[in-house]
Amino acid sequence: MNMITTTAKASMCLGPSSGGGFVMRQIPRRKPAADEVEVAVAAASVNPIDVHRAQGYGRRLLSLLGASRFPMVLGNDLAGTVTSVGTGVSRFQLGDCVYGLKPTSAEGTHASHVLVKANYLLPVPEGQDPLALAALPYCFVTMWLAISGAGLTRENASGKSVLVHGAAGGLGTLALQMLSEWGAKVTAIAWPSNFDACIGAGAADVVDCTKKPFASLGRSFDVTLNFATWDDDLLLLGCLRDGALGHATTVHPMLRNFDELGWTRAVLSTLSDKKRHRSTLPKGVKHYAWTLFRPDEAALSELRRLVEQNDISLPIGLIRSLEDAAEAFEHVSKGKPGRALLKP
Ligand SMILES: NC(=O)c1ccc[n+]([C@@H]2O[C@H](COP(=O)([O-])OP(=O)(O)OC[C@H]3O[C@@H](n4cnc5c(N)ncnc54)[C@H](OP(=O)(O)O)[C@@H]3O)[C@@H](O)[C@H]2O)c1
Repeated sequence: MNMITTTAKASMCLGPSSGGGFVMRQIPRRKPAADEVEVAVAAASVNPIDVHRAQGYGRRLLSLLGASRFPMVLGNDLAGTVTSVGTGVSRFQLGDCVYGLKPTSAEGTHASHVLVKANYLLPVPEGQDPLALAALPYCFVTMWLAISGAGLTRENASGKSVLVHGAAGGLGTLALQMLSEWGAKVTAIAWPSNFDACIGAGAADVVDCTKKPFASLGRSFDVTLNFATWDDDLLLLGCLRDGALGHATTVHPMLRNFDELGWTRAVLSTLSDKKRHRSTLPKGVKHYAWTLFRPDEAALSELRRLVEQNDISLPIGLIRSLEDAAEAFEHVSKGKPGRALLKP
């Protein structure tokens, strides 16, 4: 006989006071709101942001989302099976296989059952492995927001030269795959040991990040993307040509400024950091963006298209049970190859 449980199990992160430790808890399962679906999680990914949040990173700004008080459940994306459907949802039915994401909150996806807005879920295509899709949504949406922040779209990308720093990471790998499918010519900055992976993901050219390559690349790119380190942001801006489309970075200091400086000084410091970098842009560059993750339906729609064409994927390096979340977090914090998944 199938027992319907009224509680979910969750890996609760205890926060920096415990060194970023975890404890398993039973938490109540709630009925989905009208626009929500409950998903029985098959797998949820651990991203670098989860590792940083476990150490208290972002706590001041994320407190505005109720996402900074420990213990809390981390995790933004998931794949699984629909177990309950809100009254206003017609896109999904019980038993549907789905993948998708949640905005950053204290009720993340590292749990057995999760409530998700139906608009942030996609159907797993017939014959595809849901586990292979669980690590895509958060990374993909952030990458897509960065690329659109830099002024690139599927419509204007063909023939554009794009320089990607951090090209072998999660965001970088997805950017290489999507931009090559869009017809852009992508140069990947990465460690030499990752050159083959970058070319396999669609890079037209690879550059050794250990050789401080920025000056020799010249002012020749239409778009630069920084997924690696804020320390190199100005050097990347120097690779844009006059009249280029733009630049985006996911590794800006905004959250850290708020953590370290308090509200007022953080606002001033953030505005001044941004202005200082923007002022170095070559003539006529239109876009300069600091990307912050948020769910985005246009990005999810592009993810769906690429998944259905089998044109997008990330290697999975480790799968652990929720009870062993600490091992998955260690895998990510040590920068080991492949994404880490948690399975209830
Ligand atoms: N702002 C936001 O909302 C947001 C959202 C998602 C992600 N992020 C951030 O965006 C970054 C990329 O995310 P991800 O998931 O792609 O991370 P990831 O998988 O860890 O990839 C980061 C890549 O950048 C490379 N890298 C890091 N520091 C470098 C340096 N100093 N020089 C050269 N290469 C360097 C890494 O190489 P090695 O591992 O070999 O060093 C790795 O290939 C992370 O810092 C993440 O925290 C921000």
